[in-house]
Amino acid sequence: MTTSLDKEMSTPRGWTKRHLLGLQQLDADEITAILDQAAEFKRLAAEGETKLGALSGTYVGNLFFEPSTRTKTSFNLAAKRLSADTIDFTAAASSLSKGESFVDTARNIEAMGVSMMVVRHSSPGAPQLLTQHLNASILNAGDGTHEHPTQALLDIFTIREHRGDLKGKTVALVGDILHSRVARSNIWGLKKLGARVIVCGPATLIPEQVEKLGVEVSHNLDDILSETDCINLLRIQFERQRSAFFPSIREYAHLFGMNGSRIRRAKKDILVLAPGPINRGVEITPAVADGPHSVIIDQVTNGLMIRMACLYLLHQTSQNVLQVAAQGGS
Ligand code: CP
Repeated sequence: MTTSLDKEMSTPRGWTKRHLLGLQQLDADEITAILDQAAEFKRLAAEGETKLGALSGTYVGNLFFEPSTRTKTSFNLAAKRLSADTIDFTAAASSLSKGESFVDTARNIEAMGVSMMVVRHSSPGAPQLLTQHLNASILNAGDGTHEHPTQALLDIFTIREHRGDLKGKTVALVGDILHSRVARSNIWGLKKLGARVIVCGPATLIPEQVEKLGVEVSHNLDDILSETDCINLLRIQFERQRSAFFPSIREYAHLFGMNGSRIRRAKKDILVLAPGPINRGVEITPAVADGPHSVIIDQVTNGLMIRMACLYLLHQTSQNVLQVAAQGGS
């Protein structure tokens, strides 16, 4: 099914990627192309155009080897909105438990006709590994502590939607930077688009030499509040921590949690983001999470548009490659 809207849309010039592994590999124009495509999908959705035919006849596999609510659901819905068929793979109920390898599992799913795979895995580099063994387009939905590109894209999209151009904006990433793939992808994306980035948290949760990525470091949230336009509150990743990185959750919330008192001392129009899931009462109080500065639910809505844009652009590249091959071109 191809609608007249699909015919109007074409791959942005210069978009040539078949995989989305991280924002480290994308330049500012490519990041902007995804944001603009997502904005176009959001505009169409507002006009009631919620079903497009762009991925009709395509099978998209959701391969999640770690739990997910937002990413898995929105990739699933994004694929359906583009008329793809989707396949959900649940690691716990698979033949992995019989000893089948990660790559063999993915190759078998590809053999059933799946040409786009959304992959979440606890090992950094797992999606990249698949690009070496499969022909399918691979989309990284979070690989260990490495990258979570679509999360950063939806964070940046939400900031751009509310505050315009990223150039010169000060964005603070607060919390567990050490274990956060969201922080890494945000740093790459925000810096490429010209934002000033401050990472803030206990010294034990800030990676050594993170300044080399072009960010500033603070260990005192109260010091940076007055200069911060957008604050992204990262979850303490207890599941990835092998030892105690701070004395108590109560102390962490006292020093680094966003609460009403800090909102009153922050810039009047500070934008509060959080990738979710949020630990209410730890990195953010319920009043701030549900308050007027919060765009946490907007982020989730925008995640759908970003994932539609990523699937669409990668699919367009694959189609172009096939077309060139069929014409015998180089
Ligand atoms: N932010 C995020 O990746 O959420 P899920 O783990 O629920 O997908």
